[in-house]
Amino acid sequence: MGAEKCVLAYSGGLDTSAMVPWLLEQDYEVHAVLVDVGQEEDLAGLCRKALRYGATTAVVRDAKPAMFEHVIPLAIGLAATYEGDYRLGTALARPFITLEQVRVAKQLGGATLAHGATGKGNDQIRFEFGYRSLAPGYPILAPWKTWEFGGRMDLVNYLTGKGYIDNYAVQKDYSLDENLWHISVEGGPLEEPDTNVNVEDVLRSVDGHFAWNNTYGEGPSAVEIAFEGGVPVALGGVGKTLPEIVSQLNHQYRRAPWAWDLIIENRFTGVKSRGLYINPAAKLLHLAVDTLARTCLNKPTYDRYALLGQEFGTLMYRGEYFSDQRKIVQAAGLAVMKQLNGSVTVRLEPTPYASKIVNTSSIFTKEMATFEKSDYAHQDAAGFISLSWLSNVGKPCVEECYVGPVEAKSAAASDVCTVESLPGGGLVPSAV
Ligand code: ARG
Repeated sequence: MGAEKCVLAYSGGLDTSAMVPWLLEQDYEVHAVLVDVGQEEDLAGLCRKALRYGATTAVVRDAKPAMFEHVIPLAIGLAATYEGDYRLGTALARPFITLEQVRVAKQLGGATLAHGATGKGNDQIRFEFGYRSLAPGYPILAPWKTWEFGGRMDLVNYLTGKGYIDNYAVQKDYSLDENLWHISVEGGPLEEPDTNVNVEDVLRSVDGHFAWNNTYGEGPSAVEIAFEGGVPVALGGVGKTLPEIVSQLNHQYRRAPWAWDLIIENRFTGVKSRGLYINPAAKLLHLAVDTLARTCLNKPTYDRYALLGQEFGTLMYRGEYFSDQRKIVQAAGLAVMKQLNGSVTVRLEPTPYASKIVNTSSIFTKEMATFEKSDYAHQDAAGFISLSWLSNVGKPCVEECYVGPVEAKSAAASDVCTVESLPGGGLVPSAV
């Protein structure tokens, strides 16, 4: 009987590289799957390394088209976030890495599924939820939970001992993850909330690690984004595909002073972490689509739309892509997104803001909004207000919720205004 097969979600980094010879030592036949999620690295070169380290097969699979078809439209159209400001990224890519890995395992007629995530983060959950949905019963192996190594130094020593000298940095300040949606930076000085982080310094020190900057250019200082069904279809009046739009915005504005978010986040495991996310495309598209939604959805629908964005973001964050709950939230989300048609101009300086909105199904009318004379029936507002407050009438809590008795005298706000007595004894400032 041959060795048991193991399909490893391989990234080419230190951890999953060390896993190749380690798995061989555990009597596995190793099949490395390197999934292209837009990380702009030499993926074929990394695959050759896996073979050099003893993998029986190593393949690159392209998940970008699937991400652009299935998840990026919703991430944009629902302005999906986790905890309000993490615009996702790593979380959007993991299900598609898992899917490619499982496909290879099935082609091999079954295999153990291994990943390089540690026991502290969200990624282990995302991988393992995916395995459970797509390949129930396949054995799961997370070497970080069982092997004898404690940190980077151990891994470098282990590989060097095996004769693999590949220039891994022993000391690495940051943990980086790059894909077509964002670059995440975690670890190092970000680990301590009382470290006074200077984002420019962090950006400078990680600059050499990612490839987005190879083609960056200066973007214009305003950008007009056209949407159909909540999905961007043109920039500056020029029709483009979704991958072109996301890539163009990320490359052009990667170095813009507003391109990032520095966030304290609550991981699914309960661990708190601080991360820096470089995501200019997400920031601009979220701002634009949300602005569009505000002009054409009525108030109750807009409220639900915002909740759907949070729900979709949270379930993606928690690795629940292959689930019933995702399908339901997605169906509702797409139904609302159908209404988001038009274009938004975003000016970028000093910080992005929506300066012009052209929405073909807008219900924003000048007639309603204007401070000038219009047909709006002001007198109706009186009944609206009294009925809206009906549930509070006669409630005995007034004194406690109040900052003090209504009858109390307030101190004069300033000694430049004169005060005069009221008939009831109260004092009121008069015009100076
Ligand atoms: N905290 C982010 C998330 O959970 C980013 C994770 C980055 N992962 C990594 N392996 N560096 O989505």
